[in-house]
Amino acid sequence: MSVQKEVKRVTTHVLAEMKLHGEKISMLTSYDYSMAKLVDQAGIDVILVGDSASNVMAGNETTLPITLDQMIYHGKSVVRGVTRALVVVDMPFGTYQGNSLEALNSAIKIMKITHADAVKLEGGKEEIESVERIVRAGIPVMGHLGLMPQSIHKYGTYTVRAKEEVEAKKLIEDAHLLEQAGCFAIVLEKIPAKLGEQVAKELKIPVIGIGAGGGVDGQVLVIHDMLGLTQEFSPRFLRRYLNLAADIKGAVGSFVADVKSRDFPNEKEQYE
Ligand code: KIV
Repeated sequence: MSVQKEVKRVTTHVLAEMKLHGEKISMLTSYDYSMAKLVDQAGIDVILVGDSASNVMAGNETTLPITLDQMIYHGKSVVRGVTRALVVVDMPFGTYQGNSLEALNSAIKIMKITHADAVKLEGGKEEIESVERIVRAGIPVMGHLGLMPQSIHKYGTYTVRAKEEVEAKKLIEDAHLLEQAGCFAIVLEKIPAKLGEQVAKELKIPVIGIGAGGGVDGQVLVIHDMLGLTQEFSPRFLRRYLNLAADIKGAVGSFVADVKSRDFPNEKEQYE
């Protein structure tokens, strides 16, 4: 029996049930109303309003420049299009790392204005006080370990994380700390598959991977990548389900040609 097919609305409890029943969790990003509506109608479990909006929507090189107000704008737009999936909004860089009160205030602002279901933040031990404080206020928190794009300037590259024993050990400890602090789920990004599987086995909460192998409890991708809207980004973990970049360029090229040749609009496409 499928847990997710039975429910009208995906909640954090539904995700916990899915892990318990060994049912994999599907998660995709969305940043606007129209896309979120389609993704929700197609049966996704979780929609992440990722700070990857900074890259794919705004064209920045990193996720660092996106602001709280910009994330709230995307979050509000997504929530309006969703009736079933759990909506999680990323807390952007610089809105929670300062201190736990700042983190709490940022999380409250996101929840109050967007009406989303949860927030996500990057980091382990360093962010535990903030996670506890946000959870205590009644806001569900999703953790994020492994490759943490908001720390790109600390690491310098987007390569696979936690390959070495010391880093792997810290990641496992951080995952346990996040669970103890009350996170309802965590994302593991770009780590060895064996490590992903180990963390998913050790934790009771769902572990959702992006480049963390098949042994975790669910998978997340950036929608622009899996639909083939982005072309220059081809990591090993990415499966492309469409080549929308080519389709869109083809359609736009046809429109340009039709306008130039006066084929568009024809008689049926205008008013008497
Ligand atoms: O911002 C984002 O899209 C993310 C996913 C890569 C998990 O955090």
